[in-house]
Order: sequence, then structure tokens, then C-alpha cells
Amino acid sequence: MTTPTTAIIDLDVPGATISRHVYGHFAEHLGRCIYGGFWVGEDSPIPNVRGIRSDVVAALRALQIPNLRWPGGCFADDYHWRDGIGPRDQRPRMVNSHWGDVVEDNAFGTHEFMDLCELLDAVPYVSGNIGSGTVSEVSDWVEYLTRADDSPMAALRRANGRDEPWRVPFWGLGNEPWGCGGNLRAEQFVSLARQYATYSRNHGGNDLYRIAAGASDADLHWTETLMRSFDDLAADPTEPARPFQAVSLHYYTMTGTWADKGHATGFSTEEWYTAMARARRMDELLTRHSTVMDRYDPHRKVGLVVDEWGTWWNVAKGTNPGFLYQQNTLRDALVASVHFDAFHRHAERVVMANIAQTVNVLQAMILTDPDSGALVLTPTYHVFAMNVAHHDASALTVHLRGVDTRTVDGSELPLLSASASVKGDSALVSLSNLDVDTDRTVVLDLRGREVVGHEARVLTAPAPDAHNTPEQLDAVAPAAHGAVRPHPRGLELDLPAHSYVTVSLNLR
Ligand code: AHR
Repeated sequence: MTTPTTAIIDLDVPGATISRHVYGHFAEHLGRCIYGGFWVGEDSPIPNVRGIRSDVVAALRALQIPNLRWPGGCFADDYHWRDGIGPRDQRPRMVNSHWGDVVEDNAFGTHEFMDLCELLDAVPYVSGNIGSGTVSEVSDWVEYLTRADDSPMAALRRANGRDEPWRVPFWGLGNEPWGCGGNLRAEQFVSLARQYATYSRNHGGNDLYRIAAGASDADLHWTETLMRSFDDLAADPTEPARPFQAVSLHYYTMTGTWADKGHATGFSTEEWYTAMARARRMDELLTRHSTVMDRYDPHRKVGLVVDEWGTWWNVAKGTNPGFLYQQNTLRDALVASVHFDAFHRHAERVVMANIAQTVNVLQAMILTDPDSGALVLTPTYHVFAMNVAHHDASALTVHLRGVDTRTVDGSELPLLSASASVKGDSALVSLSNLDVDTDRTVVLDLRGREVVGHEARVLTAPAPDAHNTPEQLDAVAPAAHGAVRPHPRGLELDLPAHSYVTVSLNLR
């Protein structure tokens, strides 16, 4: 054991609201995310509701999944929504050229996605095709989804069996236009974003929250170009930003390069720390992009939406390289908890985030066995579950003292990450011990309100690359954490090496 570390928290100074939408998800037509993951079809022996896996829905409902982004990703800019409506056996096929070069039969389309969102009780986030779609195609899709009267698109929706319009608040304008979405320059894209935003109309009471495809990593020029293109942001603080309301950011964590991203399991100690340092980079990226945004948007009207984040490792051996299937370990869980700490700290600007991706792709919550169909909840899933009380709570600042660091790639990595929030008479403190070898003792110096009860949970396992399998579903699962003691300043607790701990507090 080393010198106790202290986390000072003023429980009576609530900050910005942590939108539940930072706990959002992403489902692309990629590998086994939609097909086999969410969708098995009505005739499957796997229990389903109208073709949608019941066990996946139940698992995600337990996380109170707030929103789901669809149909991509890169796929979104190849997707023509009219191919995915009407009788399934008559839908045209297409090639999914981005992901595995497989033939897509469009069995899962608009109605199936909206049905899925209703089953999940999640808000839909639909990404419109700007890369290869037309303005009128995007405009018609919004009308098809959201219009109530007898307009041509509303009538077409009714002919396909859905009378009532859906509510679709979140509307994406393109995806990675600097890459798969057209290889455009920021200056080109910004004109398209303004144009497509204009024709993505509000119908009836459905007000779209339009999200323009944003930067990758530290591409501040992209963010700056988008921010410059808004109508006067300084004018009236009560008026929404126009012509779109948010910009996005994508950032993936890997230990290697895009050519060789690093191993999902069997990694070295150095790779553990590299992953943690790169995950912590999200905080720096949010600070830098927010600083640019603040320059143009003093009233903070424009949302920052991190609609792709998570780990990206080399694919699992023997799987299709285009399917991006990877194992998910305790290390992935800590990458997630570090990201959530950053999102909580930046709650004023970060209005939504979507981990990539929900099932069977990249940093998944759920893995399904392609043969037996067995469902596995990953360590990352459990971080989402342990953090539900942060949804829509007010962020609390956590001042850390006495945290050890380790030099990684020439910079100092603090070996403890933390965040906290308060809602009414409850608070939740999140603590990630990033030290792969050493247990830590932390004093929670809790000020401003009386703490009348506490309950702690821990997520850890003997090996840093421990993971769950159909044979061992609970190798990594949250457990009650008893190593919490009263302390003159609040509470003192022990954090095992490579662990994630949450402490719920009852306040008076
Ligand atoms: O999430 C996988 C892919 O990563 C998405 O399709 C794309 O937007 C990003 O490059």
C-alpha cells in the first residue's frame, strides 16, 4: 500500500447536468451487429419479438439505454432508405462495400429500427446519407418518419403498415465526410451540411436536433470551420443554433497504429498503460474542441456529440477482418470508465456520446455466439450498468490529491481517474484504479452535506485481460465492495489493482 490518495468533493456545489444521452449507443450494418446481434428474423429459434432478439433488448433495457444511432457509420453514407421499406422479400439488395463486401438484403430497415427503439424505450438517432444520397432523399426520409397528415411520404408509411408518425429527435448529417463519407474538405462539407440541414425539416411537433458530422481526433480546423458556418450564435441566447444544432467528434482508443491496432487480449503491461493514456486523451480532446467552440458560441448553444468512441483492436483470429469483431476485457471496461469521467467533466458542452458499437462490433456491450446464439455481457456492459445513477444527475467536481503517475509516451498518466454526480439526496462517485499492479487506498473527503449511508460496488478480476465467455459468463462481473470504512473526513476505501469502483451515497 502507498500513501493514501484524497478525493475532495463538495456535495453541495452541483454543476452542469450530465445528459443521460452520453450513455448512448451505436448500431451499424456492420458484421454481426444488426444481423445476428439485434435482428434474427421472425423464424429464428432464438426468442424474438417481430425478429428482434428478446435477450438483447432485455439486457439493454437494464442499462436504461437512452438512444441508439443507426444505420452507420460509413454505411450511412451508402444507405438508401427506400431500399429498406415495404415487404421484406421484395426489398432490393446492395453490397456493403465498407464492411466485409457482403450482400445486404435490407431485411432490417426503417420500420424494424423504429420497432427496435420502441422495444428498447430508446430515442432514435438516425444518420442521413449526405455522402451518396440526394437532398430530396434525406428530406423525404424525415417526412416519412415524422409527418402526421396525408403528405406523400406519410401516406407511403401508412401503406407500409405504420399509421402514427414516429418521434425522431436526433438527426445526423453525414458521417466522417473527411474519410469514408466522401473524402471532402471541411469547407466543402460545411456547405452541404447547411443545405441538408435546411431540407431536414421539422414536421408537426417533431423538432429535429441536427448533428453535423464533425472532426476526428484533434482536427480542430474541422470544428472551427463548422463553428464559423453557423448563423449568428452570439445573438439571442434563447434561440436555438441554426441551421444545425450540434457538431460531432470521433475518437478511438488503440495501443498501436491503424495498420496494427494492438491485441484485445494477451497484452503487455506497457500496452495496458498505453490504452489508459490514450483513453485519457478524450479529456484533452474535449477541452481543445470546446475551446474552439467557446470562441464562436459564447452561450454554449451548440452541442458536442461524441457519436463514435471506444476501443479498436485487431480483429479476433479466424473472423472476417471487415466485421470488426473483438474480445472485450477488464481493460476495455476501464477505458470506458475513463471516458465517462471525461464526459461528466465536460457536461456543459458534451450533450451526447455513442460507444462503438452495441453488439458484436468493436467495444461491444454484448457478444453473441454465431453458432449457439449464446449471449455474453462484456465488462464494458457492467460499467454502463454501474453508472446508471449518473444519468441526468448534476456533475460534481472531484479534486484529486496525492495521485501517483506513470510516464507513458513521454507524458504523465495519473493512475486514478474519478468523477461524481448528485441527484436529490443521492450521489455517485466513480473511481478507476488504472494501476495494473498496485492496490490503492483513497480517502473520500466529502464536504457540504451529511452522508447518512453508502454502498460500494467493484468490477475487477485477477487478470487485466479477464473477459466473459459463454462458458464463463461472470468472470468479470460487479460485486458488493466491503472495503469501505468511515474516516474523519468522510470515507476511506481500498481500490484493488485494475479495478472500477462506484460508491453510492445517501445524503441529508
Ligand atoms: O465504427 C466503425 C467505423 O468507424 C464507422 O463506420 C466509421 O464511422 C468509423 O470510421
